[in-house]
Amino acid sequence: MGLEQEIEALLEVERFEPPQAFREKALWSDPSIYEEAAADPEAWWTAQAKELLDWETEPSQGLDDSNPPFYKWFEDGRLNASANCLDRHVEAGNGERVAYHWRGEEGEERDVTYADLHRDVQRFANALRDQGVEKGDVVGIYLPMIPEVVVAMLACARIGAPHNVVFGGFSAESVRERMEFSEAKALVTVDGARRKGKTAPIKPAVDEHLGDLGSLETIVVVRHTGIDCPMTDGRDVFYDEILAAADPECPAEPMEAEHPLFILYTSGSTAKPKGILHTTGGYLTGVTATHRYVFDLKPESDVYWCAADVGWVTGHSYIVYGPLANGATSVMWEGAPDYPHQGIWWELIERYKATILYAAPTAIRTFIKWGAEIPAKFDLSSLRLLGSVGEPINPKAWLWYHKVIGAERCPIVDTWWQTETGAIMITPLPGITTTKPGSATTPFPGVEAEVVDESEGEPIDEGQGLLVLERPWPSMLRGLFKEDERFVETYFSRFGSERYLVGDAARRDGDGYYWVIGRIDDVANVSGHRLSTAEVESAIVAHPAVAEAAVIGQSDEDTGQAICAFVTLRGGTEPSDELVEGIRAEVAKRIGKFARPKRIVWADDLPKTRSGKIMRRLLRDIAEGRALGDVTTLRDPDVMAELEAKIAEEQDED
Ligand code: PRX
Repeated sequence: MGLEQEIEALLEVERFEPPQAFREKALWSDPSIYEEAAADPEAWWTAQAKELLDWETEPSQGLDDSNPPFYKWFEDGRLNASANCLDRHVEAGNGERVAYHWRGEEGEERDVTYADLHRDVQRFANALRDQGVEKGDVVGIYLPMIPEVVVAMLACARIGAPHNVVFGGFSAESVRERMEFSEAKALVTVDGARRKGKTAPIKPAVDEHLGDLGSLETIVVVRHTGIDCPMTDGRDVFYDEILAAADPECPAEPMEAEHPLFILYTSGSTAKPKGILHTTGGYLTGVTATHRYVFDLKPESDVYWCAADVGWVTGHSYIVYGPLANGATSVMWEGAPDYPHQGIWWELIERYKATILYAAPTAIRTFIKWGAEIPAKFDLSSLRLLGSVGEPINPKAWLWYHKVIGAERCPIVDTWWQTETGAIMITPLPGITTTKPGSATTPFPGVEAEVVDESEGEPIDEGQGLLVLERPWPSMLRGLFKEDERFVETYFSRFGSERYLVGDAARRDGDGYYWVIGRIDDVANVSGHRLSTAEVESAIVAHPAVAEAAVIGQSDEDTGQAICAFVTLRGGTEPSDELVEGIRAEVAKRIGKFARPKRIVWADDLPKTRSGKIMRRLLRDIAEGRALGDVTTLRDPDVMAELEAKIAEEQDED
């Protein structure tokens, strides 16, 4: 039987029990943990916080819900996140343990130990202070996947300066917006970034777009590629130089549990990104507990690899804070999955004997396309657990992952969560949960989810509805940076301040398993990257030839969703290939290359309601070739017929 047929046959198997060998050694194998947590979630989380973290002052209370939805956790406790990630491991004699096996694009290797990080973080924390950064000041970080990104984040945490990391794939213009909104005082960036054998100059782009930003007093530049780099006297400093000049000792300053740890911008329904705010004690409790128990992490023997980028929440929680708090050894890979060759991930797993791999379904689908013969060339027998995150995983991809990468021996944890939730919320526990391909299964202990109907918010037993989280959890966002009203409006207005509106549709099956379907708002999920369609629209209309644009996330075999733009040109402008490229370039410049539309449909007009609102639902139907829904509310129903003709023309050309 060929692989295809084997996977087809596996599609019939609906349930996968945790393998006996795995269950026997799992940290948690007794399902009573769910009841224990549900009996008193607040007490259970407080016990986790005390057990998993080192507190300077232990909290005397758990949840403060006196001012919903502005919840607080462990309020009178004091701790330092960087001390929990570094000092306590060094003090316990584990300083020589590797924190990251770093691998550069060109094959360079650096093993960074806990002692190395401890040394550099102290120095960099002092260096930031030398530059005038104080507790409460926001520090931007715009770096590629290099160990310095971790040093920068933890140095901020050490002195209580909330970091604001921007994914390296965002353009400098996006960085500017995020620095401006957060009033960042300093920015840590790099001379240049490498991508598939090429080097892109980063510092010159930063100068061009951020040079005149008033709040920004210091730009720290990591010399990574060695390319020439313009420096402005009095503002710009090199990372290595200020590190060398700084005092080597910087005792970790205990922070209040609710002290802001970081801001991370993510996309919402409008073009303006939302600054998700996370604080120290609750966030650290959530990521440490979930990282340990969802990945069944044994720090002495596991080699864990989360193949995300630090610039997204997955990187914050499961490359930096969770793994380091647990004393894990991780793999960190600078580059792309197909450079220098399409087997690089598997080469790294073989090389570092990785035991746990945490990746996005979009990557798995890409590997399926490249062929199972590529991973087959490498020894993947060290793997014992696989994880998935970022978007729904289709059963076929799940089964391929299970069979080809996991050799049917590794449980798969499909983890559902968001930037806002801080930590994993719905997930299997690998030594306990029977999994079903495509379902993230059930909420983590101490978390309560529900599927409710749209209008009344009544729970739906079976069938599709809106996913909500029913009670506060420690790692939840504490707000949107300087936008309290928007925070309440986005998450806590529809069903009140005691129920968090997720923004995803889901259904629950007869076993109580959750199946997340996708976003209900105008947010597209492209290769696991969360994008606001409104943000892409505003980038497209910035092109001088464009009069109007409507953007949707269209289902896509490879990337989950792809950006499809319906574009109306200004009078007298004819569509052309140059225009397509021009529009894509505009989006790359304003947001980043990953947001470029895959498909552009030229539209003479867009479907609008009588009040002028664009009906994206209809555009989605038409782009995906579905029968059109109700068009009676349109101002001009003929628009749809014209668009249908355009799409038919497009298909003829193919
Ligand atoms: O739609 C859900 C989808 O990703 C959204 C959150 O995106 P972001 O904040 O960027 O965080 C991504 C990494 C946690 C969710 O609202 N999503 C995430 N994980 C899953 C998922 N959808 C289905 N299954 C998942 N496992």
